[in-house]
Amino acid sequence: MTLTALYATHIATLQQGTEAALAAQGFDALVLCSGSAAMRNRFDDQTWPLHPTPAFAHWCPLYEADAYVVIRPGQKPRLVRTIAMDFWETQAPPESDHFWSAFEVVEIKAGGATDVLPGGKVAVITRDQGTAPPGAVNPPALIAALDALRTKKSEYEVACLAEASRRAVKGHKHVAQVFASGTPSELDLHLAYLLASEQTDGTAPYQGIVALGPHASVLHYVAYERTPVTGDTSFLVDAGAKYLGYGSDITRTYVRGKSPSALRFRELLSHMEALQQEVIRRIKPGLEYEDLHDETHRLLAHALRELGIGRGSAEELVAQGVTRALLPHGLGHSLGITVHDVGMKLRPPRAENPFLRNTSTIEVGQVFTIEPGIYIIDALLKPLQTDHRRELLDWAAIADVRAFGGIRIEDNILVTPSGPRNLTREAWAS
Ligand code: GLY
Ligand code: MN
Ligand code: MN
Repeated sequence: MTLTALYATHIATLQQGTEAALAAQGFDALVLCSGSAAMRNRFDDQTWPLHPTPAFAHWCPLYEADAYVVIRPGQKPRLVRTIAMDFWETQAPPESDHFWSAFEVVEIKAGGATDVLPGGKVAVITRDQGTAPPGAVNPPALIAALDALRTKKSEYEVACLAEASRRAVKGHKHVAQVFASGTPSELDLHLAYLLASEQTDGTAPYQGIVALGPHASVLHYVAYERTPVTGDTSFLVDAGAKYLGYGSDITRTYVRGKSPSALRFRELLSHMEALQQEVIRRIKPGLEYEDLHDETHRLLAHALRELGIGRGSAEELVAQGVTRALLPHGLGHSLGITVHDVGMKLRPPRAENPFLRNTSTIEVGQVFTIEPGIYIIDALLKPLQTDHRRELLDWAAIADVRAFGGIRIEDNILVTPSGPRNLTREAWAS
């Protein structure tokens, strides 16, 4: 099917879901604002690149300030564009024209929106209260209902996410080769990734994480040192790409060298790769995502024992918090317009999983990441070293791999009736 046809179905489904949400909340119409130009700093005259409000991006892949999608029951959606007299700046044109015909397009001058915006009881979703059109601003129950519409991806959204994975994989394959064939710095690798995936920091779905050696133990390391790193080391790259507003979120870890420490880290890496694939195989509709997160800790405990890093039973390694000191973040999160997408954390996680961002029941149509890891984070390991849990880890083995920082492997998964579809590995194989 063409993008235009997929998009038409996406919009029809959104119209139906939004009409139901408006009726349930007693609204006559909805205005979704793209967002106004935001100052970087009140003491300076620059603005941030525009990242449209996600509720707007769900309908329309236009990166334009002060645009509005207007939804009224039974009527074609209206796209209101504010045409500004601006000879300083311009936006990149949309990557595709497939969306225009879904809207009644109206152009207005700045401040002239009143007669093209709906009357009656209107809800307005905006991040800029000062410039928002009149109406009930960001009603929480309506936002929750709109967020719920983002949790099951339409075929159009899946096509966008698959393309976002293909674009990111171009960058990932390139930097893997740059790392393997030279001694690049983190900044070299970051810039090489952006070039190969044809994007800038401003258009990427999130700031790329590029870490060599011990920096890989910092979960979101973005300091990009300029010094080339020689000798045995590791390379963790967590970076995505965007297509029509949808982003991918992919992590790979590599190791260079033949020293005993590098060989030990390589063995750990291959266990983590096998573990990540096993977790993905276990995805099935009806399973609680948090239970899969807990299973990941049991698998990690077994891997630690096999590698001789963990001592005691696998049950003890989990129960005593050893696996959680080595893997402090969640197994993954919903993915879509925002990299940590909405609607899949309707209840808080259990106390032992404070950073888990997905507590939903797995359902067909969801897209989420699976990103297990293991990290040598001194601040988290120190308490274990000083209390009764000291005997549960081989501290010499930990010290041996400490200079390699950590490992994360992250894929983007669509749940289908016939099992998980791995958008990342599919892109890697094509
Ligand atoms: N790139 C951030 C994350 O994986 O959640
Ligand atoms: Mn992620
Ligand atoms: Mn990531």
